[in-house]
Amino acid sequence: MQTRMLTNCSKDVATAAHILCSGGLVALPTETVYGLGADASSSSAVASIYAAKERPSFNPLIVHVHDIPAAKRLVHWSETAERIAQACWPGPLTLVLPLRDDAPISRLATAGLDTLAVRIPAHPVTRAVLTCADVPVAAPSANPSGQISPTRAAHVLQGLGGRIDAIMDGGPCPVGIESTILGLMDSPQLLRPGGITEEKLATYLGHPLAHRSENDVITAAGQMQSHYAPNASVRLNAVSFALNEARLGFGQVDCDMNLSRNADLSEAASNLFDHLHELDTLGYDRIAVSPIPDTGLGVAINDRLQRAAAPRD
Ligand code: TXA
Ligand code: MG
Repeated sequence: MQTRMLTNCSKDVATAAHILCSGGLVALPTETVYGLGADASSSSAVASIYAAKERPSFNPLIVHVHDIPAAKRLVHWSETAERIAQACWPGPLTLVLPLRDDAPISRLATAGLDTLAVRIPAHPVTRAVLTCADVPVAAPSANPSGQISPTRAAHVLQGLGGRIDAIMDGGPCPVGIESTILGLMDSPQLLRPGGITEEKLATYLGHPLAHRSENDVITAAGQMQSHYAPNASVRLNAVSFALNEARLGFGQVDCDMNLSRNADLSEAASNLFDHLHELDTLGYDRIAVSPIPDTGLGVAINDRLQRAAAPRD
């Protein structure tokens, strides 16, 4: 299959929407990471996401829509959902809510769950595509399953080129790590740390969030221990570096690439996957990473790094 490269011009927006409505796969830029989009109402389109990513099919997908009324057609809305959506959308937040019986969503997209993960992404080109296509778009991160998430069109081409219909190039993703996933089935529960901090969500909610316990069933691929893995192994909290290691620094350290010389966590988040991709091309056995403070966006960064460093099967 030839993978077409698309730009943000209006003709290409229409082409991307047309491919989606015809059951094809288009990688779309979002503010977090590139997503691999398909029409969420079509089981065959959703099946081709799983096939292209070689993703275990028990993982449900996030469905992307262009506005709140479109979200309300898919899930049972609540006052809490309204408050959080008004504060955070469009933006790096996914809400998990009860799926409506009449929602045009393939059972394959929810992996048979009776809840649905929905989000309105902030990237203008992708919102234009979503508006033009006017179908709910399932989009996991556009990388082969288990590997580093893509924050540039070139990363998508490298991982999935020849296996998907098109890649829309919207430039580098400004947030750089996936959306925060908030479960709103009963009391608000943090299912995955991400681009919006827990502190911010607690402010919007007016109270602290519940956390997922280790014994809960896995509902997010990002909850699996080994994930976001480069080819090289990963060593965390490195305060000194060995000669055979690629050095990924944070703050004022001598290193090969620095997540943020000024120790700015949002800059570090936006560089994280990009720098891991880059260092992985240098052929080292191991990537050693400086300690990252576990506060604010650092929680999501450390979550991704721990999974990148986890033992692999
Ligand atoms: O920022 C993002 O969220 C990116 C961009 C493309 O939007 N997408 C993304 O998708 O990270 P993905 O599939 O790589 O990770 C989202 C996770 C999935 O692993 C899935 O398990 C979880 O969201 N999820 C989907 N439906 C769910 C549900 N009903 N309950 C709990 N978790 C769910
Ligand atoms: Mg992913």
